Amino acid sequence: MGRVAGKVAIVTGAASGMGKADAILLAREGASVVVADLNEVDGQAVADSIGEQARFMRLDVSDEDNWIQVIADTLQVFGRLDILVNNAGILTIASVVDTELAMFRKVQAVNSEGVFLGCKHAIPAMEKSSGGGSIVNMSSVAAIQGISFAAAYSASKGAVRSLTKSIAMYCKEKGNSIRCNSIHPDGVRTPMVIKAATGKDSATEEELASLQGSDMCNPEDIAQMVLYLAGDESNFVNGAEMLMDNCSTITPPVGLS
Ligand SMILES: NC(=O)c1ccc[n+]([C@@H]2O[C@H](COP(=O)([O-])OP(=O)(O)OC[C@H]3O[C@@H](n4cnc5c(N)ncnc54)[C@H](O)[C@@H]3O)[C@@H](O)[C@H]2O)c1
Repeated sequence: MGRVAGKVAIVTGAASGMGKADAILLAREGASVVVADLNEVDGQAVADSIGEQARFMRLDVSDEDNWIQVIADTLQVFGRLDILVNNAGILTIASVVDTELAMFRKVQAVNSEGVFLGCKHAIPAMEKSSGGGSIVNMSSVAAIQGISFAAAYSASKGAVRSLTKSIAMYCKEKGNSIRCNSIHPDGVRTPMVIKAATGKDSATEEELASLQGSDMCNPEDIAQMVLYLAGDESNFVNGAEMLMDNCSTITPPVGLS
């Protein structure tokens, strides 16, 4: 029996990178999965590769009406909602003085407001359809350290970190058996890293292969943490920030660096 057998999950940003790995692993462990993304071609391909257990649904996480529709469609197709993985995100490379206001707002709209909207609409659906659930929010080490060359991104991931704790406390006080946790990776070998380095919209297999050997983990490593948080094995883990950074946020003691 799979570790999330019988559960229904929505994974945002599941057409690529970490979201794709999350959707594939959750399905392999028995969940039905909504592959939600703006990218219809790649999202449909991920759903097709999983098979019967998956459906692609087009979702712009920054659009509230889209969220309402996707959650309604999930309940109609699969009958319940147990897991929400708020993974979709964008990265812009600019320091605070080089960040235009429009760029700052766009990053908050996807990375921060997208997570807010997902949680706002998933919680009542989880309460009604399954009497509990697990929300996994993808943050970053940028929420903890701040990254000088990614000001808007760092702010958005900091918002996700705090919002996660607020939601965990809300759900605990309400006694609705919904948990909410955040994951904070350092570098992960995904198209996002290539896109940030090259300014292009996509990454080739060769470019991704070039990241092998760098001090980064693979999307499948992150998916293992998502699976743990999504399933009942983590039922006492709530409001936690799970670092996946191979010590990068630990400052070495003076004299040892
Ligand atoms: N790759 C890293 O090094 C790294 C490190 C820490 C955190 N993260 C976070 O992990 C998450 C996944 O990143 P990734 O590296 O897999 O990136 P990726 O670029 O490979 O995938 C991101 C996916 O999100 C989708 N997306 C973008 N905007 C969207 C929107 N408005 N609505 C719906 N979908 C949208 C894209 O189409 C894409 O499929 C992001 O939140 C990112 O900030 C990544």
